[in-house]
Amino acid sequence: MRKTVLGVLVSGRGSNLQAIIDAISADRLDAKIGLVISDNPDAHALQRVAGWNIPTVVVERKKYSSRQDFEERLAAEFALHHVDLILLAGFMRILSSHFISRFPGKIMNIHPALLPAFPGLNAQKQALDYGAKVAGCTVHFVDEGMDSGPIILQEAVPVLDNDTVETLSERILHVEHILYPRAVNLYCQQRLAVEGRRVRILPKMPKEGAKTQ
Ligand code: GAR
Repeated sequence: MRKTVLGVLVSGRGSNLQAIIDAISADRLDAKIGLVISDNPDAHALQRVAGWNIPTVVVERKKYSSRQDFEERLAAEFALHHVDLILLAGFMRILSSHFISRFPGKIMNIHPALLPAFPGLNAQKQALDYGAKVAGCTVHFVDEGMDSGPIILQEAVPVLDNDTVETLSERILHVEHILYPRAVNLYCQQRLAVEGRRVRILPKMPKEGAKTQ
């Protein structure tokens, strides 16, 4: 079977992109990264793909007169590289509903909070400021709202009394790196069934030729 081709959108550090690369090279994720697009030419994420033979493109918003033209270029690049699933991995731009509606159920995001709590920017700070005792992260399909699409996987991370934004973010990030490749792998195995807002995780199919009782 053809491997699912991933297109990853990044803006900065790229540690979640790294987690995807690591999962693929450790055979924990049966997929191929077909393209990494950064909207930031200085993103550290771009250095992470060096040596992995993964095509990268920088598409800067300021080089386009409208958001629509910028997004047309993104879509054209994904089409050119036969991308099946788009991953937002620290991509710090909001995509228009026009763009999102072109890829229904084919864009995933990771967010550093237990959605629907604390959507948007600085989710870890929002959780601390609110006094939440439990934080965490969420992998979800992207819909036209802000961090509002159907939830695929979530995991909780306790907030400690002496946490700062940095310490909490670091503990959440550690879990993000486990959760995102796992969610992508479920997609690649065709084990995600979206029913309205709910995403059911289907049981693993036995491998062809495997003994069944
Ligand atoms: C991650 O913590 C991710 O959850 C967050 O940005 C960070 C990117 O880190 N995303 C959002 O807040 C999106 N709303 P990375 O570049 O090292 O993967």
